[in-house]
Amino acid sequence: MKPKIFVTRMLPDLVMEKLNEYFVVNANPEDRALSKEEIKRGTSDCDILLCLLSDTIDSDIISCNPNLKGIVNYAVGFNNIDVKHATKLNIPVTNTPGVLTETTADMAWALMFSTARRIVESDKFMREGKFKGWEPKLFLGFDIYGKTLGIIGAGRIGTAVAKRALGFNMKILYSDNNSDIENTIKAEKVDLETLLKNSDFVSLHVPMLPETKHLIGEKELKIMKDTAILINTSRGAVVNEKMLLKALQENWITGAGLDVYENEPKLIDGLIDCDNVVLAPHIASASVETRTNMGFIAVENAITIWQGEIPPQIVNKEIYEN
Ligand code: GLV
Ligand code: GLV
Repeated sequence: MKPKIFVTRMLPDLVMEKLNEYFVVNANPEDRALSKEEIKRGTSDCDILLCLLSDTIDSDIISCNPNLKGIVNYAVGFNNIDVKHATKLNIPVTNTPGVLTETTADMAWALMFSTARRIVESDKFMREGKFKGWEPKLFLGFDIYGKTLGIIGAGRIGTAVAKRALGFNMKILYSDNNSDIENTIKAEKVDLETLLKNSDFVSLHVPMLPETKHLIGEKELKIMKDTAILINTSRGAVVNEKMLLKALQENWITGAGLDVYENEPKLIDGLIDCDNVVLAPHIASASVETRTNMGFIAVENAITIWQGEIPPQIVNKEIYEN
């Protein structure tokens, strides 16, 4: 008999087809996020849970089914899951790294361009019929070519963002407690303060951990150049959003390009009134190719878990270590 998988939201068609080959699929038929109770109900009657980064999978949900065999997250980040609790119960948790690296790096650049060159404001201006002809000072932005890019967190995605910067003849600074990328790329490792002080663009690529919460707050925003632009495609809470709002309102920095928010999907009051911020709805991995490939990895993780093997993208591999 096929194992049962509970899927909290419809994934791309090719992914659903693949899931149906291997599993009896119980998928949320509606185009909306499920409530905690609904997730709990689905989880209580499945072998494997396939969830999204926007689903909070807490100890209560994890414990509701003593036969739960695995939790398969459709995301690289997994701060939405109580991994510690899953590990205690010997339940494997998986994610989808790798395939979304370049797509997310592209998005960080898209935000850099659109913020620095004021593309969103310009578009709005055009649609409002305000263009009356070429003007010397219309929508002056900032150059990207030849500037300094600061990468905070030089993992896969941070490195991919840095690689793109070479084509723009940028100086690259990075800060990271774990990785060294000087051998792969012409970049200089510095401490966070030096990076913030010297970068024209600061792009965040750290995972959400207790120690990265509010990594960028009042002090850091004040250290940054007043001409600097902050890009966040990581997790909202890496930035103290209240302080970022103040920084944008009082021009401590020039602008920000954001794909993630502290209390998604809610935005902090006042943010949408700032013209110097470009806002995207957490879409950094949202290309047709990548969302399908993330699904295939998730399916592969689910199948291997069911077969009792170590899944290719295991988050808590310690459960296999005894
Ligand atoms: C997106 O934010 C992800 O973690 O995949
Ligand atoms: C995430 O995949 C990273 O390591 O940057």
